[in-house]
Amino acid sequence: MSKLRLGVNIDHVATVRNARGSAYPDPVRAAILAQSAGADGITAHLREDRRHIVDDDIERMMDAINLPLNFEMAATDEMQAIALRHKPHAVCIVPERREERTTEGGLEVAREENRLAHFIAPLRDAGCRVSIFIAADKRQIDAAHRIGAQVIELHTGAYCDYHYEGKFEARDQELARLTEMAVYAHSLGLEVHAGHGLTYDTVAPIARLPQLMELNIGHFLIGEAVFVGLEGAIAQMRSLMDEARG
Ligand code: PXP
Repeated sequence: MSKLRLGVNIDHVATVRNARGSAYPDPVRAAILAQSAGADGITAHLREDRRHIVDDDIERMMDAINLPLNFEMAATDEMQAIALRHKPHAVCIVPERREERTTEGGLEVAREENRLAHFIAPLRDAGCRVSIFIAADKRQIDAAHRIGAQVIELHTGAYCDYHYEGKFEARDQELARLTEMAVYAHSLGLEVHAGHGLTYDTVAPIARLPQLMELNIGHFLIGEAVFVGLEGAIAQMRSLMDEARG
């Protein structure tokens, strides 16, 4: 089985910084530390309301890190222009609603196929790998494939929520859907990633799926870093992923 890459999402270092409007803690420092702790990539979501990562963080990150940057963004003209200016390694198109606390569901690709096909074409032409964040739903995978995305990221949020709510039957059903859809997307030639809500408790069954190439994990790692440091948290996640991979 190929090695599973770990993309570390540093958004919530910026959340803490912005809570005080101070200059620290600096998410770019976290990205540099994540790099030395064994992260395979850095993920950052520049939201329309700039609630965590801000434009200057992206500028500085592009200069400071050698790892591939996975730039999460909504499908808006503003974000497209920013992505085309920086040309990160990857862009991950996510749905975004101002009132949500975090990215709640996957992108509705099937209903917006035409617009999204035109939206991602210049990003692909600029050399970015285009990833689409979607639920484990065949209709959305087919649509992502048709519009020319190279990668899909499967939303693991529902699986993780069910786990912590003690709804184990629903969790296992969601895991079965994720498993089936990872196989299906891979059979279409899509590169398959997964992420959202993953923790030490929930990562292993996801990491075990052989079709997956990358996990993107943020909130839990940044929280755990308060107790054990970012390097320790990343090392522990890495070792659970490797163990699951066998
Ligand atoms: N992948 C995508 C597409 C996301 O939007 C997020 C959250 O920003 C993550 C992964 C990471 O989720 P979490 O912070 O819950 O680990």
